[in-house]
Amino acid sequence: MDNPLKGRDLLTLGDLTPKELTHLLDLAVAQKLEWSQGHRTRPLEGKAVALIFMKPSLRTRVSFEVGVNRLGAHPVVLGGTDTVFSRGETIKDSVKVLERYVDCICIRTFAQSMVEEIAHYSSVPVVNMLTDEHHPCQGLADLLTIKERFGRLAGLNFTYVGDGNNMASTYLLAGALSGMNVTIASPAGFEPAEGVMAQAQGIAEETGARLTIASDPKQAVADANVVCTDTWASMGQEDEHEERTQAFADYTVDESLMAAAAPDAVFMHCLPAHRGEEVTDAVMDAPCSIIYDEAENRLHAQKALLSLILG
Ligand code: CP
Repeated sequence: MDNPLKGRDLLTLGDLTPKELTHLLDLAVAQKLEWSQGHRTRPLEGKAVALIFMKPSLRTRVSFEVGVNRLGAHPVVLGGTDTVFSRGETIKDSVKVLERYVDCICIRTFAQSMVEEIAHYSSVPVVNMLTDEHHPCQGLADLLTIKERFGRLAGLNFTYVGDGNNMASTYLLAGALSGMNVTIASPAGFEPAEGVMAQAQGIAEETGARLTIASDPKQAVADANVVCTDTWASMGQEDEHEERTQAFADYTVDESLMAAAAPDAVFMHCLPAHRGEEVTDAVMDAPCSIIYDEAENRLHAQKALLSLILG
C-alpha cells in the first residue's frame, strides 16, 4: 500500500484507521524478523528525532532512543524540566525552533492538550510518548505482542482489570481498530473516559469489536484470551495511593483470577508493575506472563511507526 502515514502525527490510537494499524503492525513484524536475521537497513539516515520527557521513563526512553538509532536517525533526548518548556518560553516558540532542527517531535507529558498544542504548531510529525489520557505507542506494542502470540487480533477477548486510566482508553481504541473485543473492569468512579468510549464504539461499528465496561473482575475475565492490568496510581497520582489501594482491593490479578480466564490466557502489563498490588508475583512470573515480550515490542512497534511517519 502507499504510505498514508507519511508526515502524520500519532497523538492517540484514534489517529489511525483499521487499515493503517494493520499495515503498521505487519511492518513491525517484518522489521523485527529482518533485524533478527541480521539485516541492518538505515531508512532514516540523516534525520533527527527529539525525544522530550517531562515524566520519568525506562522503557519508552530506551526503546525510542535505541529504535531511532537503529533506523539510522539521531535521537536528541531532552529532559522537559531543564531544557524545553521550562523557562517561560511559549510552546509555540519552542516548537517553531525545534522543527528547524529535527524531523519529528516525540513527547511524554501530562495533559493531552499539550501534545495537541505542539502538533498544532509543528510542521514536523508529533508522537505522543504518554500523556495522562493516552499511551498510543504502548498500545501498538501490546497489539503486536498479542498478534505474535495468537496469530490474529480480531475476535480475541481482551480484559483489562483496574484503573480506567490512559491505558484503559488506549485499549478501547486498540480493540476497536483491530476487531478485538475489549472489556474494562473498574471500580465505580474509576471507569474509562466516556468520550473515548464513545469514539471507540464508533470505530468498532466498522470492525465488529465488542467493547464492554464491567465492574466484577471475575465475570470480566471469563473467556479472556488476554488479562491485563496497570498501576492503580499513575504518575502524578502518588498522593492518592492509599485511597486507591482501598478502592482497588478486589482488583488484584492473582492466580485465581487468571484461572477464571480462558485456558490459553496470557497476562500482560505495560510496566512498571507494583508487585503485590495490582498483580501478584505468581502471575508476573508465571509461564502465561508475556510482560517482557511486551516491553521488547515497544522497540519494534515504534520503529515501524517512525519508519512510516518519517518515510
Ligand atoms: N510502559 C512504559 O511506558 O514504561 P516507562 O514509563 O518506563 O517508559
